[in-house]
Amino acid sequence: MMTILVAGIIAGCDQAPAPGSDLRAIPDGAEWIARGAIVYAQHCAACHGTQLEGQPEWRRRLPSGRLPAPPHDESGHTWHHPDEVLFAITKNGLVPPYAPKDYGSDMPAYAGTLSDDEIWSALAFIKSHWKASEILAARAQMMRDRRTK
Ligand code: HEC
Repeated sequence: MMTILVAGIIAGCDQAPAPGSDLRAIPDGAEWIARGAIVYAQHCAACHGTQLEGQPEWRRRLPSGRLPAPPHDESGHTWHHPDEVLFAITKNGLVPPYAPKDYGSDMPAYAGTLSDDEIWSALAFIKSHWKASEILAARAQMMRDRRTK
C-alpha cells in the first residue's frame, strides 16, 4: 500500500520527495489552477488547443506515422489516466512504462523545461475542466484502485 503525499503539497512544503512520491495527486486548489493556466497557455496550448480541444482528427495518424495531439477536455482520453501517469507522460514524454520502447511521438518531455510544480499546475488546470459526474466518478474509482496495486 503506497502513501499518497498530498499533505506536503497542501502545506507547500519543499521537503525532498520520498521514493514513490510521484504518486501524489494532481492538486485542485484555485492557485494551482490559475498558475497552471499560464503554464498551459505557454507550453501546451500550441498543440493541445487553447480550449483544450486538441488537434483536428486526433485519432488519425499523421503522414509521419505519429499521432496528433489529443484534446485534454472531456472529449479526450487524458482523463482516463491516473494522476501520476499524466505527470510521468508530461515530464518524461511517451516512454516506457507508459509507451512502448522506441515509440515515436511528438509529445515533448518537459523535464528540464518545467519544474515538477509547474507540471502539476498545468495538470491541475487541465483537470479543472473535467466536470461531468461520470468522469469524476470514474476518476475517483481509478485513483482508489491504483493505491492498492
Ligand atoms: C509539440 C506539440 C505538443 C505540445 C507542445 C504538448 N503536447 Fe502533449 N501531446 C502531444 C501529442 C502529439 C500527444 C499524443 C502522443 C502520442 O500518443 O503519440 C500528446 C499527448 C499528451 C498526453 C497523453 C494523453 C493521453 O491521453 O494519453 C498528455 C498527458 C500530454 N500530452 C500533456 C501535455 C502537457 C501538460 C503539455 C504542456 C506542458 C503538452 N502535452 C504539450 C503533443 C504536444
